[in-house]
Amino acid sequence: MADIESLLKEKRVFKPDSKFARKANWNKKTVEAYRKQGARKPERFWAKMAKDNVSWFKPWKKVLDWKPPFAKWFVGAKTNVSYNCLDRHLEGKNAWRKNKAAIIWEGEPGDSRVLTYGDLHREVCKFANVLKGLGVKKGDRVALYMPMVPELAIAMLACTRIGAPHNVVFGGFSADALRDRINDAGAKVVITADGGFRRGAPLDLKTAVDEAVAKAPCVTNVVVVKRTGEACSMKAKRDLWWHDLMADASSDCPPAKLDSEHPLFILYTSGTTGKPKGILHTTGGYLTHVTTTSKAIFDLKDDDTYWCTADCGWITGHSYVVYGILANGATTLMYEGTPNTPGFDRFWEIIERYRVTIFYTAPTAIRTFIRWGDEHPKKHDLSSLRLLGTVGEPINPEAWMWYHRVIGGKRCPIVDTWWQTETGGIMISALPGAVATKPGSATLPFPGIDPAVVDEDGKPVTPPNGGFLVLRKPWPGMLRGIWGDPERFKETYWSQYKNTYFAGDGAHREKSGYFWVMGRIDDVMNISGHRIGTMEVESALVSHEKVAEAAVVGRPDEITGTAIVAFVTPVGGVDAGKKLSGELLQHVTKEIGAIAKPADIRFTDALPKTRSGKIMRRLLRDIASGKESAGDTTTLEDYSVLAKLRESDEN
Ligand code: PRX
Repeated sequence: MADIESLLKEKRVFKPDSKFARKANWNKKTVEAYRKQGARKPERFWAKMAKDNVSWFKPWKKVLDWKPPFAKWFVGAKTNVSYNCLDRHLEGKNAWRKNKAAIIWEGEPGDSRVLTYGDLHREVCKFANVLKGLGVKKGDRVALYMPMVPELAIAMLACTRIGAPHNVVFGGFSADALRDRINDAGAKVVITADGGFRRGAPLDLKTAVDEAVAKAPCVTNVVVVKRTGEACSMKAKRDLWWHDLMADASSDCPPAKLDSEHPLFILYTSGTTGKPKGILHTTGGYLTHVTTTSKAIFDLKDDDTYWCTADCGWITGHSYVVYGILANGATTLMYEGTPNTPGFDRFWEIIERYRVTIFYTAPTAIRTFIRWGDEHPKKHDLSSLRLLGTVGEPINPEAWMWYHRVIGGKRCPIVDTWWQTETGGIMISALPGAVATKPGSATLPFPGIDPAVVDEDGKPVTPPNGGFLVLRKPWPGMLRGIWGDPERFKETYWSQYKNTYFAGDGAHREKSGYFWVMGRIDDVMNISGHRIGTMEVESALVSHEKVAEAAVVGRPDEITGTAIVAFVTPVGGVDAGKKLSGELLQHVTKEIGAIAKPADIRFTDALPKTRSGKIMRRLLRDIASGKESAGDTTTLEDYSVLAKLRESDEN
């Protein structure tokens, strides 16, 4: 509530710039018309978007088949994602795009490559044939564990070309996390690299793949891109070099004509249990959603150079580095490395050199840049920028204002986009030529999208009260399920309210209709815009032999939004535990990955529990954030407080 109250005091409003508005893909009039249609007849609105923005081999018989919670969009239609992202830019009136940059790629060491639409089409066709040669058939899953190199986008698009759903696993996940995701999806082939460059040094990926695949009997082959040139072991017959396979591959590979509901990809995300969920997206609806939102929200034009800093291991990389952007025939920039290698101005130097026009990043990154100092962006000419975006977490008004002033030179609209792995595409966002922005608010729903803020009974709350963010109507990019677990799908998203999607976020909606999304209200933490389940970290900790019990909570952090705090009861008492910190951090890194490492580990002889034995998370959250003082020590030895707490049954 305190956060909501401080945001409510935010009175600054930024109207769309008239020059921008005049040229915008969607101007005020268009947006008003679409909003009306989207509210009254959402299916008609989405059908128009599908017709205008996507190419189909066969039209649909029915726009939507909604048997809650299962939706089918564009029923009976046939299309292909790689066709929409590539072939159609080489045909008819768009044929000139053959020599237009599709991907501008920059490696961390400073090497770069440009792939035109003609190049990308050829590479994708060749790799699609490579996959076929390895026995990958329509419907087979392919796991991708790669650095941010063009081959990642090529592999994704090649999978879509033949109808093999991909399962991209972020390169920061550990061998164990990768193994679980490969096995859960039942992937037949894994695509990886010898490594990638990060913070000025090669980072090995292949060793993790070897470890994972040793315990993944479903995998028949591993394809390895040579990126760093570091020595890496290649298992005879199973492991094959990308460049060897590509040397002999034909570039003739017609796109498979896939059903609109054909599985497109599975992407794992954290939930409230220890086991990540494989979020399933399908073809036609997802493509319509991401293509339309890219065109409207990022205002993509043929002369734009668009840069989204997300890794393709996350949903943002899927929807708004690759699919939505290429489907519009735009130029997407991919960068391999970190923002402070070799210097703290790397991002701004890239923007200046490539004359980037649209820049999309996360609030955590923005807060980090603020801490690094204005001198870094100020060294560079950022005047090419015309539009900025944020995603992944709430943005505090101060960070928004800094982004507006220092990066946007006070001239660029900012689109704060709310969405999730599950929604596939953006759901709430400003439209830069039509909607006034307020620092900290994601503003209004996209036309055809119907979010609301409700109380526990599902009744819309009256402003300025906060509540739970829900979606009341199906949308084309919505998840179609959790891979292999329809019960969990129903339970997680559809059991709270009837026929209504429960997003797991807290929000507030002001009288004007503007949304202020406050963040997760479940046991999921948002660390630097990445989702980590408290249970996942807890399971990792308790799997260590010297840990008897563990509880994990998030605490507010100025830079990363939330930081992980672990309360651990070690076998053999607190004193034995104190020496464990380093070992436990390593253990979590091994079990999940470095992104899940607690910022703080506190040892305790017992965890505060209710009489029924539930860990009192709220109390731990208070202690972690310093609201309930546990003294200055890193331990919670003083448990005289516990006796009192045990009396209470609240959790
Ligand atoms: O809590 C919300 C937050 O990120 C969550 C979704 O995380 P993930 O599936 O990893 O996708 C991130 C990229 C789309 C949401 O439940 N979130 C995302 N965007 C915003 C946000 N919170 C506030 N404002 C946003 N713009």
